[in-house]
Amino acid sequence: LFAALKDQPSDSLLELIQLHGADPRTDKIDLGVGVYKDEQGHTPVMTAVKQAETILLNSQTSKSYLGTAGDMGFVEALIPVVFGEARRGDTALSGVQTPGGTGALRLAAELLNRARPGATVWVGTPTWINHFPLLEDAGLTIREYRYFDRNTQSVIFAGVRKALESAPPGDIILLHACCHNPTGADLSPEQWREVASLCAERSLLPLIDLAYQGLGQGLEADCSPMRDLLKHVPEALIAYSCNKNFALYRDRVGALFYQCGDEARRERLRGNLVNLARTLWSMPPDHGAAVVRLILSDAALARMWSDELDTMRRRVHSLRAALVAAHPGLGFLRWQNGLFSTLPLSPEEVLSLRTQHGIYMAASGRLNLAGLATAQVPVLAAALEPYF
Ligand code: LMR
Repeated sequence: LFAALKDQPSDSLLELIQLHGADPRTDKIDLGVGVYKDEQGHTPVMTAVKQAETILLNSQTSKSYLGTAGDMGFVEALIPVVFGEARRGDTALSGVQTPGGTGALRLAAELLNRARPGATVWVGTPTWINHFPLLEDAGLTIREYRYFDRNTQSVIFAGVRKALESAPPGDIILLHACCHNPTGADLSPEQWREVASLCAERSLLPLIDLAYQGLGQGLEADCSPMRDLLKHVPEALIAYSCNKNFALYRDRVGALFYQCGDEARRERLRGNLVNLARTLWSMPPDHGAAVVRLILSDAALARMWSDELDTMRRRVHSLRAALVAAHPGLGFLRWQNGLFSTLPLSPEEVLSLRTQHGIYMAASGRLNLAGLATAQVPVLAAALEPYF
């Protein structure tokens, strides 16, 4: 039977981890996968996480099943953080725990395909490379439009508008809430407002990918345009990841939130989510979600976490500023957000940076700024000199 299987391409992003690991050069620079590193090149466990883990270790009395929706204390603790205090207790908004943001996206895709088999999702390109296989494997149809111009390093908003104007009612529009992956080019507040009006007028369903809250402009600012959009649309799905902002990567912590004002419809939606999750993973892994719940339900730990996250965000900002100072041709880095920017480099140029300088980045030209140490800024700026 297995003879019928076709060869599959390896994941080019994850492959960078292996390639970088196997490179013996001591001065190599890893700007590949989206993982935050400190000045020493480590991805430490956050102190708030360590403290919550100690509490968990000492207080957990059972590891029996929690249920398909996971830890609802975790889901409810996230609601004010993600959607604002005003929505605490709002019955139109709820969620289920998922294994990471990818699990949330996949669950959303399965739900959408069950609601309307082969439904169309409008995807601005470039986007996170896993969006395409993830949505297509669930049975959805993808309509691409150009979101970003690599040469001007800006959003092609006319393209976004045209996509929204052409999408028939009931189509889905995939949006990045903040820290656009892979370009760092987010919509402006005015553009978000226009997107919100078009979604409302044309009955389009926003599917929002929110994986980097707090790593762009701050916890509140990063979600504010999405919160405004949610005031204008009756229904939306939000795939959330705690993997980056709580640095819990391998623990796979996420949630799929849904907004739906109609009570009967919302109950049916939830019933379908738990029914789908049961066949996908039965129940999500508990540990990381329990840690996040403990942090968010303890004022001192929550403060410690948001301070640590601020330090991470400030480091990324200062790396962006230092690179621009070292190489003014990279000025666009200053107005982009989050871990990523995409340089207008060809795959050959990316390969040459790797072979000649030991600088690892995605073949698309995406670089993860959070992989850089301040001391490496002049090295990267000099290596990029011929191209800008
Ligand atoms: C990335 O884009 O580098 C991260 O989201 C890691 C991943 O799973 O691809």
